[in-house]
Amino acid sequence: MSPFRLTRTLPEDASGAALRADVRAGLIRTPKTLPPKWFYDARGSALFDRITTLPEYYPTRAEREILLARSPEIAAATGARTLVELGSGSSDKTRHLLDALVGLRTYVPVDVSASALEQAGAALLAQRPALDVHALIADFTTAVDLPVDAPGPRLVAFLGGTIGNLLPAERAAFLHSVRSLVAPGDALLLGTDLVKDEATLVAAYDDAAGVTAAFNKNVLTVINRELGADFDLDDFAHVARWDAEREWIEMRLRARTAVTVKVPAVNLAVDFEAGEELRTEVSAKFREAGVRAELAAARWEVTRWWTDRAGRFALSLSTAR
Ligand code: SAH
Ligand code: TRP
Repeated sequence: MSPFRLTRTLPEDASGAALRADVRAGLIRTPKTLPPKWFYDARGSALFDRITTLPEYYPTRAEREILLARSPEIAAATGARTLVELGSGSSDKTRHLLDALVGLRTYVPVDVSASALEQAGAALLAQRPALDVHALIADFTTAVDLPVDAPGPRLVAFLGGTIGNLLPAERAAFLHSVRSLVAPGDALLLGTDLVKDEATLVAAYDDAAGVTAAFNKNVLTVINRELGADFDLDDFAHVARWDAEREWIEMRLRARTAVTVKVPAVNLAVDFEAGEELRTEVSAKFREAGVRAELAAARWEVTRWWTDRAGRFALSLSTAR
């Protein structure tokens, strides 16, 4: 048994082709958009880790509180022998789950960020040398191929409220595809951030120290480096806005003046008007009834619903029907 393996299911050049396709499609449409997975190069993953420690960014602390309180119950209810974690990042909060899952044989962290998986793998190897960790560099919005040594019962974890970064139609497709990774009786542990007052939400995505602004602009740095573009980061301002109708936070980059940006790898010269905004990310906030309905539509039955004491964030445990 080798304790840490890292498998790339995204070919290096396929991610280059995907980045070019996404950037081209996103920058020629109105309004302009970019898909969020391109935030997470090594610097983006490090900036996200800093976000999780900011005073304004409550979701990580709230979810950790629930995991600390409920992991023994999750372990007893699932008896999981394999834990698959989608968008695992640093796997930091996952420790509480790993501590409780006494029968666990295999942990499969899945992320697009190779650097996050490598760092998390090194930390896990040092702390729990007996655990079989099989990390996958993969895009969780496409079908994920689990390693052969992933025995049932399986528990799939999707933490951090990352499901809110998918648009409603993408969420439905995602929940169906996760359902197809497991057998009836297997489980899904889902973290969802909850609707709350606008000031708290906006502050979580527009912190005083400017870390979220740097994270948002990092997507421009990625495009400059990978596609030879000439975005000047100072030409853009970070914007986080609450959309009360759709109940999501929208992250945007607003052009401070009229600028033209060249993106040689996709043969584009893109004009931004002064004040024009590029949408980089949504972060949807949820209500209990909505989460239950979306899960039920994908053949998941919610068996537990927990929140932190302040009622900011929810963790639900569902069984595959
Ligand atoms: N689960 C961690 C990290 C959340 S941040 C936590 O709760 O703190 C979101 C994570 O999802 C990042 O590590 C990012 O690299 C990863 N990610 C984003 N889009 C992805 C995609 N399409 N496929 C796989 N991983 C993705
Ligand atoms: N999953 C995180 C969230 O929606 C990702 C995130 C936190 C994020 N802060 C961000 C994404 C700022 C883009 C910009 O809470």
